[in-house]
Amino acid sequence: MPALKKLLSKRDVNIIGMMSGTSLDGLDLSFCRISYHKPRHRIKIMKNGYYRFDQELKRNLRILTSNAEFTKSFVKQVDDDLGLFYASRVKRFMTKLGLGQVDLLACHGQTILHQDKRISKSKTERSTTWQIGNSSRLAALTGVPVISDFRSGDVALGGSGAPLTPICHYHLFGKNNENVAILNIGGITNITFLPKKSRRMKIRASDCGPGNMLVDQLTKRLFDCDYDKGGRIASSGIVSRELLSSLKRRAWFRRPYPKSLGREQFGDAEVKKIIEIGRRNAISIKDILTTVSELTVISVMHYIENLPALDKLIVCGGGAHNKYFMTRLSDLIRESVVISSEDADVHTDYVEAVCFALLGALWLYGEPANLPSVTGASKQAVLGRLTLP
Ligand SMILES: Nc1ncnc2c1ncn2[C@@H]1O[C@H](COP(=O)(O)OP(=O)(O)O)[C@@H](O)[C@H]1O
Ligand SMILES: [Mg+2]
Repeated sequence: MPALKKLLSKRDVNIIGMMSGTSLDGLDLSFCRISYHKPRHRIKIMKNGYYRFDQELKRNLRILTSNAEFTKSFVKQVDDDLGLFYASRVKRFMTKLGLGQVDLLACHGQTILHQDKRISKSKTERSTTWQIGNSSRLAALTGVPVISDFRSGDVALGGSGAPLTPICHYHLFGKNNENVAILNIGGITNITFLPKKSRRMKIRASDCGPGNMLVDQLTKRLFDCDYDKGGRIASSGIVSRELLSSLKRRAWFRRPYPKSLGREQFGDAEVKKIIEIGRRNAISIKDILTTVSELTVISVMHYIENLPALDKLIVCGGGAHNKYFMTRLSDLIRESVVISSEDADVHTDYVEAVCFALLGALWLYGEPANLPSVTGASKQAVLGRLTLP
């Protein structure tokens, strides 16, 4: 196939990175031109775009990520619906921008199951991860080759399949003369530490705890809004010591790093427990939200405390808009150290989408993307699967 041969020989590629994370808010797109370069590839971010999930799709994804019972045909239907949604939004993005040549789509998909054996109670359990969003539909409807299913290859080697962005952070933000950490506050928080003169093998990374996921569910239940805009509610309450110490006793908090986390730890059941503890201890709903926001901050600090002194903490993800998180991190670290990724030239809302564009390029270059010291895999591997239109 000459077209495939041509694609595989490219060193300068135009890729749309596609990310929809555990917050279930919508789809982030980043159109990037990536050029092969050693030791760090060059990434030029051309355009970004965001498309919210429609209500029905969001409701169905919520069902699939909860413990509710559903049928096989329902899983397949949502997989198809999501593939169609991805395709229509990518087409809209390409038309709106008049994008000429897109070589590849690099699609994370939507996680509906993620279990890391390192934090499960039974030692024999395998790690499992499952992303949906039908890539055949995406390729067929856009006419562009798709790389998807980035996590399975790592899981097949005994890893947890997450986090995968550390190698991308190395290419995007690595510095020879500074200790840099990148903190993504999405549904979950994950952090990457790039030591000075960072060589790949020295990179450390882990998920830390909940990001926006508990806060979002509680603002919905207690205040009937989708999220705590600007962190205003959290900033107006005080931390409940009883609730915070009870949350710090959870197994996920005590397990050693690195670990990966998901809706399995911070879903419906946990939200119900938090509301119940609040009721028993007469904690106001405002203070519940402040305390859960504080949990996000202290679970990040718990990781940072074991790192060498940081020159920069680069914050990205939707949580970078939450002033409670940003102010508390600045208080606890040092104001001059904590910056938003915007100050490092990448829009806070699109770092993850850029990372997936880069993961698509790593597939094309035949370069491994997982870090065994981070995911627990037995070795490095080229990650992703190709679907041709
Ligand atoms: N202006 C804002 N103020 C506070 N939180 C925000 C704001 N904008 C976005 N967020 C939070 O960010 C979340 C989305 O973050 P995102 O990085 O897309 O996470 P994910 O990768 O899990 O989808 C929203 O659900 C919300 O909690
Ligand atoms: Mg999102």
